[in-house]
Amino acid sequence: MGISLINQSTNHTLYFNMAPCVSISILVLALWVLCIFTHSTTMVVAAESPALELEAKALLESGWWSSNYTTNGSSLNHCGWPGIFCNDGGSVIDIFKRDVYVGDKFRKFNFSSFTNLEGLNLYNTGLQGSIPPEIGTLSKLAHLSLFMNNLTGNLPLSLANLTQLETFVISSNLISGSIPKELGNLKNLKYLDLSANAFIGTIPIAICLLTNLTYLMASNNQLTGELPPSLANLTQLERFNISSNLISGSIPKELGNLKNLSTLDLSNNTLTGPIPSTPSLLTGLSHLDLSSNDIAGQIPITIGHLTNLRTLSLAWNQISGSIPAEIANCISLHNITLSHNYLTGTISFDMSNLYLLVYLDLSYNNLSGFIPRTINHLTILETLSLNWNQINGSIPTEIIGCQSLRHLTLSHNNISGDISFELGDSQPLELLDLSYNNLTGNIPIFSISIKKINLSYNSLQGQIPNGYLNCTPYTFIGNKDLCGDIQGFRPCFSNSPSSFSKKKTSPNNNKSIIHQIKIVVPLSFFPVFLLLGCIFLSRRGDKKTKSDSSEPKNGDLFSIWNYDGKIAYEDIIKATKDFDISYCIGIGGYGSVYKVQLPSGKVVAIKKLHRLEAENPTFDKSFKNEVKMLAEIRHRNIVKLLGYCLHNRCMFLIYEYMERGSLFSVLSNDVEAVEFDWMKTMNVIKSTAHALCYMHHECVPAIVHRDITSNNILLNSELEGSVSDFGMAKFLDLDSSNQTLVAGTYGYLAPELAYTMVVTEKCDVYSFGVVALEILMGRHPGELMTSLSTSQSVMLNEILDQRLPPPNCLVAKDVFLAAAISFACLHTTPKSRPTMKWVSQEFLSHKKPVTNPLHLVSLWQLRNQENYTIGESETQ
Ligand SMILES: *[C@@H]1O[C@H](CO)[C@@H](O)[C@H](O)[C@H]1NC(C)=O
Ligand SMILES: *[C@@H]1O[C@H](CO)[C@@H](O)[C@H](O)[C@H]1NC(C)=O
Ligand SMILES: *[C@@H]1O[C@H](CO)[C@@H](O)[C@H](O)[C@H]1NC(C)=O
Ligand SMILES: *[C@@H]1O[C@H](CO)[C@@H](O)[C@H](O)[C@H]1NC(C)=O
Ligand SMILES: *[C@@H]1O[C@H](CO)[C@@H](O)[C@H](O)[C@H]1NC(C)=O
Ligand SMILES: *[C@@H]1O[C@H](CO)[C@@H](O)[C@H](O)[C@H]1NC(C)=O
Ligand SMILES: *[C@@H]1O[C@H](CO)[C@@H](O)[C@H](O)[C@H]1NC(C)=O
Ligand SMILES: *[C@@H]1O[C@H](CO)[C@@H](O)[C@H](O)[C@H]1NC(C)=O
Ligand SMILES: *[C@@H]1O[C@H](CO)[C@@H](O)[C@H](O)[C@H]1NC(C)=O
Ligand SMILES: *[C@@H]1O[C@H](CO)[C@@H](O)[C@H](O)[C@H]1NC(C)=O
Repeated sequence: MGISLINQSTNHTLYFNMAPCVSISILVLALWVLCIFTHSTTMVVAAESPALELEAKALLESGWWSSNYTTNGSSLNHCGWPGIFCNDGGSVIDIFKRDVYVGDKFRKFNFSSFTNLEGLNLYNTGLQGSIPPEIGTLSKLAHLSLFMNNLTGNLPLSLANLTQLETFVISSNLISGSIPKELGNLKNLKYLDLSANAFIGTIPIAICLLTNLTYLMASNNQLTGELPPSLANLTQLERFNISSNLISGSIPKELGNLKNLSTLDLSNNTLTGPIPSTPSLLTGLSHLDLSSNDIAGQIPITIGHLTNLRTLSLAWNQISGSIPAEIANCISLHNITLSHNYLTGTISFDMSNLYLLVYLDLSYNNLSGFIPRTINHLTILETLSLNWNQINGSIPTEIIGCQSLRHLTLSHNNISGDISFELGDSQPLELLDLSYNNLTGNIPIFSISIKKINLSYNSLQGQIPNGYLNCTPYTFIGNKDLCGDIQGFRPCFSNSPSSFSKKKTSPNNNKSIIHQIKIVVPLSFFPVFLLLGCIFLSRRGDKKTKSDSSEPKNGDLFSIWNYDGKIAYEDIIKATKDFDISYCIGIGGYGSVYKVQLPSGKVVAIKKLHRLEAENPTFDKSFKNEVKMLAEIRHRNIVKLLGYCLHNRCMFLIYEYMERGSLFSVLSNDVEAVEFDWMKTMNVIKSTAHALCYMHHECVPAIVHRDITSNNILLNSELEGSVSDFGMAKFLDLDSSNQTLVAGTYGYLAPELAYTMVVTEKCDVYSFGVVALEILMGRHPGELMTSLSTSQSVMLNEILDQRLPPPNCLVAKDVFLAAAISFACLHTTPKSRPTMKWVSQEFLSHKKPVTNPLHLVSLWQLRNQENYTIGESETQ
């Protein structure tokens, strides 16, 4: 008996790792059961009062215990049954069942028979149906847990009778309806857990009467409305978690009264407004999660009062301003996540106090300046993510001080300088992403522990060290001048001293030998490492490169960057047999497109411009400036301009080659269109939106495409989309005698271009709407755009591409969202169209609109979705 009980309680604590917020309740309950156990004497056999007989009878009839326990004739030994605890008088005070199927027998349980019951804990017993209202007769009940069952229906109002209740756990059920205000009667309640149900409606103010509450959990429901300021009455509150609901409004500053609060989790709601800056807020707080809301404003400097704070997550909001220096006062911080906001300024807070930091994620902001040298104090830091900012300067050598660093992501910044040779040497580095920066110099030999590495799109040069021979070319592409025995790169001339770092030639050579010894030995023991992609390996046996004798004379195409690369020019002339028609894969408005395999093996698309434009001197100058700028643009959804040659002898642009050609050609081919399923379709729409958002809102000055059509969206081998020809239309039509006709393609042109020549971002928004609809429909929407107002009864599912099976429930919301956004973009008044920024964010937001099945949504309803016609377009 005793043993089985202890087993049960240890099982409970084992569960701890699985669901942190819920596991606390389990632990509390386990302790409570142990406590009851020590207070009660088991095995009381005497005392045959009528009340006890009733209890015994009720237990027999409940059907909760197998017949083994009931066939011994007398049930008076029921105090010895598993999970039953009696008081000295032999009356049942506690019932505890776990992982035993009780199912729909809940209703057979005669509550009124258990006049002394203080605890009822039915944990994962498959309870079904609604909670019987008779539960209200258990007048002495102090602890009630029905955690993890299949209970449905509303909470019975009779719960209000359980005035002795201190613990009420109903989490992980299917309870619906609103939280009854009658719970406000339960004045002794300390622990209330309503999480993971289907509760709707607002948080009743009556809850704020429960002044003894220490735990209030209601996460993962569909609660709406605002947080009542009177929550401030709950002065004993230690944990408050209402994450993953639909709570709106701002965070009441009154929460600052909650002096005992240690966990505040309001994440994944729709909260707006600023973070309150009341000086008294939350000083004992150790866990603050406000992520995934619409919180704006700045991080208040009062954050510095939170000296007990361990976790701070403000990610996925609209927080602006700089990171206050006061954050350095939060000396207990272990985890800072501020990604996906609009933070600006430099990272200037003093890191020397934050030596407990394990995780620092500031990615996807607009932070600038240097990586602070005080970073060397972060000796237990494991993850540093600063990607997608505008950080410049070099990687400080002090980063070596981060001795526990595993994941270092600095991609998409403006970091320059060379890569410190010691990086990774004394650190367990596993992931290193330095791509899309302006790092120069040679590639050092990194530590063997690195499993993933990305150095692409920098200005690195020289030899790719032998240790990287098993990396894919994508690890290195887009650099200045790299060589090595790796596919896609020219071989190095043997032992050319210039391909090694000048300053460190001899120590480095020694080091690489040591590395190779270190490497070969462990690898022979762990062949599985071979699968990990980019790791060190000894030199490949077969040197089968150099198949062509036409060795590139001056490196690969990247030397054309400065458009004086005559020799590379010759490479291209040679590879295309002087632009032989057999290499031509398409002819566009202003040039012909050739597919070319360069001597290095790389396949690129070359756009050869028509002579006419090339000979116009004004065109020449501005075009060159623009092309130089475009060549520096790096966005995964914009076809990369890899190089160019602008000279009177050669006028061509070199683009990344997109294997599957244009979106238009894929949509026009019935076989390919089927392969282009809803998931991929949605991705292309989103990618296009992100690319446009980037060019409109993140480039200074903004770049308007002017010719978004299904022909200008290209797909790679995975059918992922990228926008091509950004900014080209502006120049390439300048010389046209039809000045009034703005560049663009009929059928995609915004209607205002018929009466005004002013091209704005909103023209692209319109064209995007057409393309998005074209993707959804599998063909150009054509007449649908004009007949929208008359085709009110057409349902959304009727216009979708009929070659595809109807979207499943996973993508249906995306399809709905895409359709709603397309219609918003097609608004005839430019001002009423949303901005691409808004569109892009709408797609990124994980909050999907609530929608009916697609066959119940009419186009008319879609067009009149209030929240998709206004957007945020008026702000500029
Ligand atoms: C039933 O009674 C027998 C003998 O009296 C005893 O050995 C057995 O443990 C009892 N079963 C239960 C489940 O109490
Ligand atoms: C439940 O027990 C009470 C006595 O406590 C009795 O009056 C009542 O009939 C029982 N109900 C059922 C459904 O057996
Ligand atoms: C709830 O019911 C479903 C289906 O009847 C079952 O698969 C699941 O295990 C049940 N959950 C619990 C916690 O009993
Ligand atoms: C709740 O208590 C009231 C008065 O104490 C009583 O009349 C009522 O029957 C009780 N309700 C239930 C469901 O037990
Ligand atoms: C709160 O709990 C204390 C004991 O923990 C108790 O004395 C007090 O009555 C409770 N407050 C209310 C309003 O019930
Ligand atoms: C966010 O909340 C919604 C419900 O409002 C839920 O479906 C979703 O899973 C939550 N997301 C996360 C990451 O918790
Ligand atoms: C830090 O917090 C983020 C977001 O809340 C989470 O994804 C990450 O796993 C946490 N890291 C650590 C080490 O706790
Ligand atoms: C990269 O760095 C080099 C030399 O430090 C500099 O000349 C060049 O302008 C930089 N490029 C970019 C895109 O910042
Ligand atoms: C100019 O535009 C008009 C009207 O679209 C068209 O008919 C004409 O052919 C165009 N002229 C030239 C030179 O492109
Ligand atoms: C539109 O948004 C507002 C608040 O942003 C919300 O109250 C309203 O319910 C939304 N309407 C629709 C149709 O989604």
